[in-house]
Amino acid sequence: MPDPFYITTPIYYVNDVPHIGHAYTTIAADVMARYRRLTGNDTFFLTGLDEHGQKVQQAAIKAGIDPQIYCDRVTPQFRNLWEKLHISHDGFIRTTDARHKAVVQRALQNLSNKDLIYRAEYTGWYCTFDERFWTEKDVENGLCPDCKRPVEQLSESNYFFRMSQFQDRLKEHIQQHKDFLRPETRRNEVIGFLQKPLEDLSISRPKSRLSWGIELPFDSDYVTYVWFDALVNYISALEYLPSVPAFERYWPASIHLVGKDILTTHAVYWSTILMGLELPLPRTIFAHGWWTVDGEKMSKSRGNVVDPYVMVEEFGADAFRYFLLREVPFGQDGDFAREPFIGRINSDLANGLGNLLSRTLTLIHRFSNGRVPEPQDSTTTGLETELKRTAESLIREKLPHHLHSGRLEFNRALESIWGLVQLGNQYIDKTAPWVLAKQPDQKPRLDTVLYHSAETLRCLSISIYAFMPTTAEEIKQQLGLTLNFTKPILEGEFNWGGLLPDTQVTKGQPIFPRIEATTKSQGKNQPSPDHLGSSPSYQSQATASSQMKPEPTQRPGNTPGSDDLITIQEFEKIQLKAGKVLSAERVPKSEKLVKLQVDLGREQRQIVAGIGKKYKPENLVGQTVVVVTNLKPAKLMGIESQGMVLAAGDEEVKSLATFLEEVDPGTKVK
Ligand code: MSP
Repeated sequence: MPDPFYITTPIYYVNDVPHIGHAYTTIAADVMARYRRLTGNDTFFLTGLDEHGQKVQQAAIKAGIDPQIYCDRVTPQFRNLWEKLHISHDGFIRTTDARHKAVVQRALQNLSNKDLIYRAEYTGWYCTFDERFWTEKDVENGLCPDCKRPVEQLSESNYFFRMSQFQDRLKEHIQQHKDFLRPETRRNEVIGFLQKPLEDLSISRPKSRLSWGIELPFDSDYVTYVWFDALVNYISALEYLPSVPAFERYWPASIHLVGKDILTTHAVYWSTILMGLELPLPRTIFAHGWWTVDGEKMSKSRGNVVDPYVMVEEFGADAFRYFLLREVPFGQDGDFAREPFIGRINSDLANGLGNLLSRTLTLIHRFSNGRVPEPQDSTTTGLETELKRTAESLIREKLPHHLHSGRLEFNRALESIWGLVQLGNQYIDKTAPWVLAKQPDQKPRLDTVLYHSAETLRCLSISIYAFMPTTAEEIKQQLGLTLNFTKPILEGEFNWGGLLPDTQVTKGQPIFPRIEATTKSQGKNQPSPDHLGSSPSYQSQATASSQMKPEPTQRPGNTPGSDDLITIQEFEKIQLKAGKVLSAERVPKSEKLVKLQVDLGREQRQIVAGIGKKYKPENLVGQTVVVVTNLKPAKLMGIESQGMVLAAGDEEVKSLATFLEEVDPGTKVK
């Protein structure tokens, strides 16, 4: 049995509603928790809320209610969001829980008994926002060095934890444990910070100034400093949230995930508190970067705060989860903007994974009565060997490597998974099952191709589960798989060939419909449709002959007059390419319209064409046609068309425009 795995997020202040930053860490932790459960680790995933301190007290005063009532009201906003984002936490802690308070008081008493806490008069510069004192040398122009807000001079008697005593031990621990602080750049920052003498830490606040906190067990005139209270959550939770106390089982934590701004409090305050309590330190503290929005710092005053509820509503939880972890290496800062988000949904999810699933199931329905055929070993080629090798190395080597606690390379894990998606789509293009189906002697080869396409999807469902649990379930349902993602995956299921022949597949709705570029969203900095239009994935569009109105003025003999002549430059604005029809189906309730999936070399498009009276869909598959690729997308009978195929004929289609010689999909036509 692999080691128990304990992962935590920071506990979030309740003075704010949840935003993209909170969602980011929590999604990352969820991916790790799901991945580790799937690979057999006994896992505990903790998240929760930080409910004490000045910020929360002030928010409650502003709302004109008791702080506890205030906290109770805000809590569901976090809990419900985690549900919508499919966060699979095992524990949700609130620092106002009575049992958490008891553990904090016990920890303080323990340190006090060891003479690690003392009382002293302290004069310093206090930052209300950060709830901490700064020394004279830290403060520049009367501003807090951290948040740049004005600080005030305060003289106060407080209790201090002898943090300075642990400086050397902490330095040594960091040197000896390579994965303790990650990523490397952040580790170096902490090492730099520890070059200066470490001061003792004030762990109390006089009630006369702040009453919303946990009372010190040895002085009822004081409450506990909110960071001491908050950090202890990582151990208090283990005492009362699992069904049986589980401190022995899960401590030390495998990973504390934190934002870069709170690395020092974790690496220095928390580590030295643990040393004082004589407890082992967490194995890894991983600091991720920050999101800006449309290139600007996110803030309420700018009105650009990204609300995860809105994102889930508009794009779905899995797309949001995918984008956050795919777009930016974990550990680095990133920028959130609508355009790249929609771009990724369309290219990676709709055209990539969604298309692979939909094509595979269509082909199995059409050529194998909806049942996965038995592969015929004698007909396998290098292409199948490559698929097998890629899928097995993804599951057995790449995912464990990228998702190692000291790396957390979510983006690279997703890149590797999408390498297999791409290979799966290329495999279908190259083997052209619709052509094999026309040749009865190729039936064994066709069966092999269909089997390998479906098996690729089985391996993909396992690989994406931690990142996109709903999508993995959907693929599983449509493919008729017997996998159970809530249990560790059995060893054999990691091997190529786990899909049972004769499994009945069921084609469902597209898992990721393409998204049309719109301006609908929150925040004031949404790009305009024109802005979106600059990306190739948005230029795609529309129909066949039906939509090309208005017609130019016709003169007798159909010869254009000079007013109607266009220059070569004008003509060149129309982008034409050779496209190979991969699949075709009638649009329900339409005599004329056919929905085509067309391979354009580097991309695939869906085109709705008005050629259904002239052609049966099955006769279109495999044909190479001329496609107008830079028309704006349009919807025909509710279905998006991302281009137009050319045909001869006016009211009535006489013939599709095709080629005399074989040309590769994507070849320019001029
Ligand atoms: N309550 C403390 C944590 C105590 S943990 C023992 C706290 N809470 S917070 O709600 O202010 O912040 C929580 C997390 O959100 C931090 O890890 C912070 O880095 C993260 N983020 C806040 N804004 C962010 C972005 N714009 N981008 C990414 N993460 C951001 O600090």
